Amino acid sequence: MKVPVITIDGPSGAGKGTVSRALAKKLGWHFLDSGAIYRSLALAVTQAAVDPNDIDAVVKIASSMELEFETNDPPRILLNGREITDQIQSEECGSTASKIAAYGPVRQALLQKQRDFRREPGLVADGRDMGTVVFPDAPYKIFLTASAEVRAKRRYKQLKEKGADVNLERLTKEIEERDRRDKERTEAPLIIPDGAVLIDSSDLTIDQVIARCLDIVGGK
Ligand code: C5P
Repeated sequence: MKVPVITIDGPSGAGKGTVSRALAKKLGWHFLDSGAIYRSLALAVTQAAVDPNDIDAVVKIASSMELEFETNDPPRILLNGREITDQIQSEECGSTASKIAAYGPVRQALLQKQRDFRREPGLVADGRDMGTVVFPDAPYKIFLTASAEVRAKRRYKQLKEKGADVNLERLTKEIEERDRRDKERTEAPLIIPDGAVLIDSSDLTIDQVIARCLDIVGGK
């Protein structure tokens, strides 16, 4: 039997990261933050002063970059041996990530890196195309969303807590633009996967969302 996967897709700020991480911990399963892979590539591209629209150059970096996800508490992400955990959280990095993520060859170059996370006893995978492209055979698929206003406020709080200098109005616009790009792109757009359970977290606490997810996977 194939290693089980729970896919959690949805727009930014829906709570996917927090929920997926908590779910993985509860189940004792591995965790894939696929957005962090796109963000790390965005950072690598920026550091190399490469034009994000130069697909060949971006693919080259995607294929050669070395990413390590350390599962300490708190977890750390290393790009070519250097820690980048906090650096990739900026909205600027998210925005560059969503630009390079629109290119098919870039997505293709990152596909296997993501599938490699599927290991015993199971995987919780967080992203935009987890249930549609990366793990289409996942037995459990969730689409987590929330109103645009709630999502912007959550991201704002998250970034503030990390000490970032953010402006709610500007952040709301950047998130809306990023979501629009993610939904309208032709390559692996953000859509509700066939067979996914839709959860709107606007009026739910994180614990309530986690409880619903656990119900969906049968309290494993
Ligand atoms: O999830 P996160 O906000 O960290 O993702 C950053 C960006 O990376 C998204 O806006 C999206 O453009 C891209 N992404 C993607 N496919 C994924 C995960 C993230 O295209 N599976």
